[in-house]
Amino acid sequence: MVSRNPNFARLQAGYLFPEIARRRRALLEKQPDAKIISLGIGNTTEPLTPIVTKALTEAAARLGTADGYSGYGDEQGLPALREQIAKVLYQDLIRAEEITISDGAKCDIGRLQILFGGQVTVAVQDPAYPVYVDGSIIAGADSGLQYMTCRPENDFFPDLGKLPRVDLIYFCSPNNPTGAAATKAQLVELVKFAQKNKSIIIFDAAYSEFITDKNLPRSIYEIDGADEVAIEVNSFSKSIGFTGVRLGWCIVPKKIKFADGTLVGQDWTRVITTLFNGASNIAQAGGLAALTATGRQETKTLLAYYQENARLICEGLQALDIQIYGGVNSPYIWAHFPAQKSWDIFEKILNEAHVVTTPGAGFGPAGENFVRFSSFGRRADIQEAVRRLSNVLKN
Ligand code: MLT
Repeated sequence: MVSRNPNFARLQAGYLFPEIARRRRALLEKQPDAKIISLGIGNTTEPLTPIVTKALTEAAARLGTADGYSGYGDEQGLPALREQIAKVLYQDLIRAEEITISDGAKCDIGRLQILFGGQVTVAVQDPAYPVYVDGSIIAGADSGLQYMTCRPENDFFPDLGKLPRVDLIYFCSPNNPTGAAATKAQLVELVKFAQKNKSIIIFDAAYSEFITDKNLPRSIYEIDGADEVAIEVNSFSKSIGFTGVRLGWCIVPKKIKFADGTLVGQDWTRVITTLFNGASNIAQAGGLAALTATGRQETKTLLAYYQENARLICEGLQALDIQIYGGVNSPYIWAHFPAQKSWDIFEKILNEAHVVTTPGAGFGPAGENFVRFSSFGRRADIQEAVRRLSNVLKN
């Protein structure tokens, strides 16, 4: 018989979000009429904007014509889309050739884990998006895994002075799950740390479009020298509602090299061309439309909807004297329940308010005593959830 990949035995039993879905189903089995509202997984709910819908529809229709049909495209993505991303989202801080278009940030993180393999040492923020740790375990890169504690006491920014040298540093800002958006000074410190230690930062900017504070960096490349040490992943999922359509990108600057002098970008291209056949041509047409002036305006309106949801959740929790973080410059609200275990408070909110949240402990040990609320939802559901929470969580 085939031996099981031993890395899988070191993973926690299940990925966080399926476990939450299992508990939600268990409630529905007991109470089939429960009207459950999800503020759990960050899954978008609002329709695509008009210009994006039109572009997707037209791109699909073109495929049904002899002249408009296209099959495989460039594995790295549509040149026009790479150029527009560089120009519109990065003000040409990076070059189009350094961008590869993909089916999403999570998938790119998985492919980066293949690129770096099992011999690298890794540090992750604690708490963190589970893919960094789980993916590292699957890749066999978890021996000596360093957790960088990020809690209110340190302004959600790790004490880098205590961190031993590692090869890869995963850093997500605005952060999932804490909602903390790193300041310029913090990112300067991070980049300097990576330069000094010759580490590579994998910077996850999937929520950058939620930043409203003009002083906060939206990309690691706003920091001098970051293009020598940082790879950035990003996605259209949350900003233009492409969680189901699937489209993202990864930036591997030309200056980043391995110890033997090989360009990291060269091996990244090898991974992409070997294991990925390029993002959907329909999705890429939608992404291009979203980067036009009209598309940007529509995206702003879409984001404002979720930002208002976040504000309503913050207001509701604050009225209950619950200490919260995030919710501004981020779609996630990180609520502190100092006296309760996060799975317990998750169960209480699920069973009594019929609202799904995400238990902080699911994101790492430092997430204990916290629960994450997502602002992705329909307005009426958000309002109803806030009403129910105020009944269930009042003292
Ligand atoms: C989350 O809820 O943490 C994310 O939405 C999940 C994801 O994007 O994969």
